[in-house]
Amino acid sequence: MISVLSFPTFLFEVLLWCNIYATDDLIPDQELSATSLLETLNARGTLRTQLQVLAEWNYKTNISEETLKKQLEVSKQIAKENKEDWLQAIKYNWRSFKDPTLRRRFMKYSILGASALPEDKYVALQKIVDDMQAIYSTSKICDFKNPNKCDLSLEPEIVEIMTNSRDPEELKHVWVEWRNKNKVVKDMYKKYVELSNEVARLNNFTDNVQYWLFGYEDSKFRVKIAHVWEDIEPLYLQLHAYVRFKLREFYGENVVMEKGPIPAHLLGNMWAQSWISVLNFTLPYPEQQALDVTKELLKQGYTAKRIFKLAESFFVSLNLSAMTPLFWKKSVLEKPTDGREIVCHASAWDFFDGKDYRIKQCTTIDEKSLKTAHHEMGHIQYYMQYKDQPYIFRDGANPGFHEAVGDVMILSVSSTKHLKRIGLMSRKQPDNDDLELNNLYKIALEKVAFLPYSYVMDLWRWSVFERKTTPKNYNCKWWHYRNTIQGIEPPVNRNEDDFDPAAKYHTVADVSYLRYFVSTVIQFQFHLAACRIAGKYDPNDPQKPLHKCDIYKNKKAGNAIGKMLRMGSSRPWRDAMEVLTGERKINASGLLTYFEPLRKWLENENRKNNVYVGWEKPRTKCIKKGSQRRNLLKKYLNK
Ligand SMILES: *[C@@H]1O[C@H](CO)[C@@H](O)[C@H](O)[C@H]1NC(C)=O
Ligand SMILES: *[C@@H]1O[C@H](CO)[C@@H](O)[C@H](O)[C@H]1NC(C)=O
Ligand SMILES: *[C@@H]1O[C@H](CO)[C@@H](O)[C@H](O)[C@H]1NC(C)=O
Ligand SMILES: *[C@@H]1O[C@H](CO)[C@@H](O)[C@H](O)[C@H]1NC(C)=O
Ligand SMILES: *[C@@H]1O[C@H](CO)[C@@H](O)[C@H](O)[C@H]1NC(C)=O
Ligand SMILES: *[C@@H]1O[C@H](CO)[C@@H](O)[C@H](O)[C@H]1NC(C)=O
Repeated sequence: MISVLSFPTFLFEVLLWCNIYATDDLIPDQELSATSLLETLNARGTLRTQLQVLAEWNYKTNISEETLKKQLEVSKQIAKENKEDWLQAIKYNWRSFKDPTLRRRFMKYSILGASALPEDKYVALQKIVDDMQAIYSTSKICDFKNPNKCDLSLEPEIVEIMTNSRDPEELKHVWVEWRNKNKVVKDMYKKYVELSNEVARLNNFTDNVQYWLFGYEDSKFRVKIAHVWEDIEPLYLQLHAYVRFKLREFYGENVVMEKGPIPAHLLGNMWAQSWISVLNFTLPYPEQQALDVTKELLKQGYTAKRIFKLAESFFVSLNLSAMTPLFWKKSVLEKPTDGREIVCHASAWDFFDGKDYRIKQCTTIDEKSLKTAHHEMGHIQYYMQYKDQPYIFRDGANPGFHEAVGDVMILSVSSTKHLKRIGLMSRKQPDNDDLELNNLYKIALEKVAFLPYSYVMDLWRWSVFERKTTPKNYNCKWWHYRNTIQGIEPPVNRNEDDFDPAAKYHTVADVSYLRYFVSTVIQFQFHLAACRIAGKYDPNDPQKPLHKCDIYKNKKAGNAIGKMLRMGSSRPWRDAMEVLTGERKINASGLLTYFEPLRKWLENENRKNNVYVGWEKPRTKCIKKGSQRRNLLKKYLNK
């Protein structure tokens, strides 16, 4: 997550790209005065933002009544000041400004965000989101085998069980209990939806969906995303069919149906969003030594700090920036052991002074943390690259860009070649196609499996904000999407007393999810482009397939990436994308090229084993009425 700031300000900077402003035009008076207005507001705005980020950091790294109170106070005050400035700015007839840069600044400026609410409602909205997050972050459940032990947190205990347990009953228990704890926010969520739509309307959007999609600068964006998903779906169906076949072999025919959706608790992840934990018993070539990066990290005595140093060295090898001294001093890279409760969900922070950047992450010594470290550091890298842009342009070209930076690095880091290079895979392991295919499959369990999940997260919320889904069918609509798009089903029946979307951080934390879908697609476009620049990918050379490319130490590729990052959000994202890739569209071809050898293999394997592709009806149901109401009715009928 990145800190989303609602109030843009302005700094005079020499812009890196060519400004198409026609110099022989006279600058209209209003533009001159607009420029000076923004200049005046800037200093106050920057200072304000720093205070706000700090208060939020203090709360999220130390959850308490006191830190929450302080955060709410600060943000209330800032909201008020932001609103005063905003009211001045929107008086300008900026849509008719001649200078496109000035116009763009004002365009961004015209969105105030939640501060547009009246003060009482603003505080109420913030408190709801904070309360929902606090419930999520501090929920504890009881152990399956020892019901008296009720101190299991999501991170690390519950995640550990979901990842490593192979007992379907234990997995079901943890899956259900986690949702039982988090469903209590349903009424808060209803209120949150109302207030969010109100915020959107006050910012001149029809509803919160339009607000969330604003950053993509395309009124047809949802349709385009649907097409991208259509292009990827055939690959997903093959992966889904193969994994279900393997799970059925492992857990037996009574647990996994031949033609049904996959039971959600068996995929090694609380949300079935990454299937990487089922790797070791579903490997295409099990006789090949599995790539166990975690084992190597532990064997070599890696610490949290060393994991982050390793990530940093990759960025530096590309001629991108090293972390600042303050980063190493102020970041929280491990879960504190002094009794503090913190929001463990990893995040990267920009304090907007060009020096202070921080990561908060409850790092564990394993492969997943290694990847998260690269991912979060990608955010920091972006912050550092665009630090010289005017304040309002210090943001991703679109929200998906911000999530993609670190992941582009991970695609190189995950190649067998690179893992050998940095000693996380034995150099003695000979190169061979079976091993490469295992590795590609592993990456698909993470990236390809993730796409329908990330799509569903926002499809559901779009329908909620647009009131096509009301609180009466929140949960069943959720499962409708999960079933039809993702092909999974819950392990037990659900009803409308349950509120399963709330079992996920981004739902309760008010973070849109489309960015992760977009990121997952464009990171392969970026990877392809960087590899081409580095001369490590050539569609006509079988020795240089995309999935084997490692851009490590390639300054030419790194400089091209840096050039795109330095633009921030100063131009529409298509322009930024074009700088690196030469393309102006989001397109699945990078991802499909990368996974092409795997797609061929899966198709062949599924055909050979006569595996059903797709899914029929689920076994479990979602009952539209709440169970309590149903039980009351039953009692009444039994009388
Ligand atoms: C956490 O917050 C409390 C106030 O609630 C404060 O007294 C304490 O010093 C903080 N701890 C840290 C480590 O910042
Ligand atoms: C749990 O606690 C109860 C009451 O203290 C005790 O009777 C029971 O044996 C305990 N169960 C386990 C599994 O430890
Ligand atoms: C897979 O990993 C689990 C725990 O992570 C382990 O218990 C199991 O033995 C492994 N299975 C195989 C087939 O390697
Ligand atoms: C909203 O739109 C109306 C009409 O286009 C305009 O007059 C008003 O200034 C806009 N408000 C904001 C906050 O941009
Ligand atoms: C490294 O990046 C800087 C800009 O950040 C650039 O000026 C320099 O030429 C680059 N070095 C190489 C070797 O490409
Ligand atoms: C994506 O773009 C590439 C080149 O820009 C084009 O050749 C290809 O047809 C597109 N692929 C899809 C799946 O739209």
